[in-house]
Amino acid sequence: MKYYFAPLEGITGYIYRNAYEKFFGGIDKYFTPFIVPTSSKSLTSRELKDVLPENNKVTFLVPQILTNDANKFIFTTEKLMNLGYSEVNLNLGCPSGTVVSKGRGAGFLKKRQELDEFLEKIFSKSPAKISIKTRIGKDSPDEFYELIKIFNKYPLEELIIHPRIQTDFYNNKPNMKVFKDALELSKSTVCYNGDIFQSNDYIKLIEEFSNLGVVMLGRGIISNPNIIKKINSNNVLEKEVLKKFHDAIYEEYQDILSGEKNVLFKMKEIWFYMIHLFKDSDKFAKKIRKANRLRDYEAIISALFGEFDLI
Ligand SMILES: Cc1cc2nc3c(=O)[nH]c(=O)nc-3n(C[C@H](O)[C@H](O)[C@H](O)COP(=O)(O)O)c2cc1C
Repeated sequence: MKYYFAPLEGITGYIYRNAYEKFFGGIDKYFTPFIVPTSSKSLTSRELKDVLPENNKVTFLVPQILTNDANKFIFTTEKLMNLGYSEVNLNLGCPSGTVVSKGRGAGFLKKRQELDEFLEKIFSKSPAKISIKTRIGKDSPDEFYELIKIFNKYPLEELIIHPRIQTDFYNNKPNMKVFKDALELSKSTVCYNGDIFQSNDYIKLIEEFSNLGVVMLGRGIISNPNIIKKINSNNVLEKEVLKKFHDAIYEEYQDILSGEKNVLFKMKEIWFYMIHLFKDSDKFAKKIRKANRLRDYEAIISALFGEFDLI
């Protein structure tokens, strides 16, 4: 089985990816959170830092692009190729209202004619390999059956499917009926993505789809960075390893971000998912959320790791 690390905007930037690779690893491909091309033709400094090869210590990184403008996709791909990348990923899954209202991300799925023309252009002009990360529709899962006809016209590197529709956001359950059909209908390799939070979720998935060769995990890894080791070798997470992993991220954020608030904001996003690794986590979740100074935050984390066991 190949494992991919899903992009999570705001969380899985290079600091998190590097620390994860160092302390846990086991990932075949990492994906950057989306880059949004603009008419200025340059990446923002945040986007550039995230893809600069010298900042990235992971095995294989695929930059992700969010746009519905073929020319912008192509010039951004060229920029990324100049940095040494040979593969890019198109985001057709972002459910956020501001993205969808501009006809991007999962909003692009509703405009099938335009999407087809866009793909025609990028696949004929882009020298890089292109994979797609998609939801199964905007308003209805039935849309997938039209979308797959379009995807099948192009030589995708792979098709990563999060089997929800845009209006689900992260509610409801992944639609496994449509995913099953996708595996049969897709001419490209299919990667499954969605709701693998425990090793049991993974086991159930491969029991149902024994021919599946690639899975992508996002929130499951942030919630438990040890999940892939657990899946592969029943490895038990050690508190010391988690602490070192935490400290590596925390120190790097202090180096690159200005202001205590910005560092705390980043750490709080991680703890939103990761706190559930600890017994009696509710009390600490609240304390972490309320921390306003690094000094207070450090005292809370020290007490958490000192006094509480992992579940
Ligand atoms: C906070 C957050 C940020 C995300 N950012 C991105 C993104 O930049 N690009 C993308 O394709 N998906 C993004 N996603 C979706 C995830 O990559 C993934 O498809 C989704 O979380 C479902 O997988 P999971 O259940 O394994 O987390 C984001 C999800 C969350 C919760």
